[in-house]
Amino acid sequence: MEAKKMAVIRQTEIADRVFELVLGGEDVLKMQPGQFLMIKPNRQDLLLRRPISIAAYDKERSECTLIYRVEGDGTRQMAQLEAGDSADVLGPLGNGFSVKEDLAGKQVLLVGGGIGVPPLYQLGKELHALGAAVTFVNGFSAKKDIFYEVEMAKFGEVHISTVDGTYGTQGFVTDITNQFDWSPDAVFSCGPRAMLQAVQTSFQEAEVYLSLEERMACGIGACYACVCKGNEAGKQFKVCQDGPVFNANEVKL
Ligand SMILES: Cc1cc2nc3c(=O)[nH]c(=O)nc-3n(C[C@H](O)[C@H](O)[C@H](O)COP(=O)(O)OP(=O)(O)OC[C@H]3O[C@@H](n4cnc5c(N)ncnc54)[C@H](O)[C@@H]3O)c2cc1C
Ligand code: FES
Repeated sequence: MEAKKMAVIRQTEIADRVFELVLGGEDVLKMQPGQFLMIKPNRQDLLLRRPISIAAYDKERSECTLIYRVEGDGTRQMAQLEAGDSADVLGPLGNGFSVKEDLAGKQVLLVGGGIGVPPLYQLGKELHALGAAVTFVNGFSAKKDIFYEVEMAKFGEVHISTVDGTYGTQGFVTDITNQFDWSPDAVFSCGPRAMLQAVQTSFQEAEVYLSLEERMACGIGACYACVCKGNEAGKQFKVCQDGPVFNANEVKL
């Protein structure tokens, strides 16, 4: 796969150090929820591309949206992109969430933590369009970190937890899901490892899909930087190529 230039349509800070970047280009037509792009920071000494999930896309307009938090040099560089610039992008990459038709009419739970929330937005939109009853549960550190509550509410019920209690339920996503008097048919989750482990053990009766955000180098299966263990003895997966989305039964967290 070749890297391409995508046009920067706009970029906005939507929460503390969290940016919404809208890019335009023909490859939007190939995108699926849960896939990611590898973005090359515009600085000679930053050699590695940075993986960022596709948060949303509009295939009619050939536009996609990325939501990312500034963590280090690469994302700090990305935050300087402005309308009219171009971004050097590889992707869409990886196997995303599959929106199975048999989820129509079913109860689906989407659990996101921090910068793991973005890929669940497009997924929730598509599951809602299919006729599934969507519930989002998103966990953040504090009120200043929250984004996309209103946007997600168009497609389902939204619950929010904050670790410091400055918004929503104080604590973690499981402090919300443990109070539910219903059981989801399917669960989709993306976020920190500890949160994914909690989701994996909490919903053993449901179909559970986890998106792993391992550190990556090449993003295309060539370097083994992103290997994770499978549940079968000796089985390993490359998260960039075999994932980032896995059935929770397949992987050892
Ligand atoms: C498939 C995938 C999808 C991702 N999607 C998003 C997204 O939608 N939005 C978003 O904000 N981030 C996302 N990330 C994480 C993002 O790639 C990293 O935050 C980014 O690469 C950091 O680059 P940097 O140069 O700014 O920071 P660096 O200088 O490389 O690192 C700064 C800090 O970020 C941490 N970090 C680096 N890589 C990761 C990682 N993969 N996961 C967690 N922490 C990391 C480092 O441990 C360090 O503390 C995703 C990662 C993967 C693998
Ligand atoms: S990042 Fe290189 S193999 Fe996955």
